[in-house]
Amino acid sequence: GIGRNWPWASGGSSILAEFGTLHLEFMHLSHLSGNPIFAEKVMNIRTVLNKLEKPQGLYPNYLNPSSGQWGQHHVSVGGLGDSFYEYLLKAWLMSDKTDLEAKKMYFDAIQAIETHLIRKSSSGLTYIAEWKGGLLEHKMGHLTCFAGGMFALGADGAPEGLAQHYLELGAEIARTCHESYNRTFMKLGPEAFRFDGGVEAIATRQNEKYYILRPEVVETYLYMWRLTHDPKYRKWAWEATEALESHCRVNGGYSGLRDVYLLHESYDDVQQSFFLAETLKYLYLIFSDDDLLPLEHWIFNTEAHLLPILRTGKKEVEIREN
Ligand SMILES: *[C@@H]1O[C@H](CO)[C@@H](O)[C@H](O)[C@H]1NC(C)=O
Repeated sequence: GIGRNWPWASGGSSILAEFGTLHLEFMHLSHLSGNPIFAEKVMNIRTVLNKLEKPQGLYPNYLNPSSGQWGQHHVSVGGLGDSFYEYLLKAWLMSDKTDLEAKKMYFDAIQAIETHLIRKSSSGLTYIAEWKGGLLEHKMGHLTCFAGGMFALGADGAPEGLAQHYLELGAEIARTCHESYNRTFMKLGPEAFRFDGGVEAIATRQNEKYYILRPEVVETYLYMWRLTHDPKYRKWAWEATEALESHCRVNGGYSGLRDVYLLHESYDDVQQSFFLAETLKYLYLIFSDDDLLPLEHWIFNTEAHLLPILRTGKKEVEIREN
């Protein structure tokens, strides 16, 4: 019954992508059990976040549970932040678009992200940087690549006139992440890539050159494919599939790679659980028809497990009223 936080997390803070990634599951649990307590718990998280002052409209990655104040002003759409934004959007979608508070929080958040974190490189690649107390680190993590799919998935609920813009932003992020794959020898992307010191979409530090079978890039290809049917997304997904077969297949399974720029595989000897749950699931769906797990009926949670979109009766009421 006692909670403790990571000692490294900004003075014992809680992490945005942890407390912000309970919403879908807890709402569904209340729906299944008929017990509202789970929904009440996660709604309180949202109430707390709504009341807090946000620097430049951004959500820092750390929040101290004792003081109720933000920790370090680090903002990221990658590790520590990512799925918080994903769950705002998906809370709105899973509620049959009745959860308008989630919708507003999502579009306010991504507007601030676009203003303060999204930049274009000199050759025209759009990327999402990391924000540290107002200074930008021009680095984009593989984890951050999921955001292309998120922008596209939310596009048709965007404030007036912005739907096409968010779909295009999703496509631009997908293109940048594809470049990060294409600029390696293995044709699989590094853990993080940079846009500084004359490089674009390339990992420059040895400890950012690994690929551990992560799904975020093919996740974005799936949403882009479903929403645009531009055949390049299937082409890019097939390149990744072939690269996985050529470079990650080992006796007994698939392994991560220690350095995607080397001419020879150096295996880490680990098959992460998200490889089956996410990476292969998204690839399978890209090469399936749209009526297999249609996006109108299913939400993929942040580990690509399925949750049904709740039919609130809103649509039926609309039909009856008409
Ligand atoms: C991918 O890389 C290949 C070989 O380096 C290059 O010829 C090709 O133009 C690149 N494709 C894209 C879309 O950048």
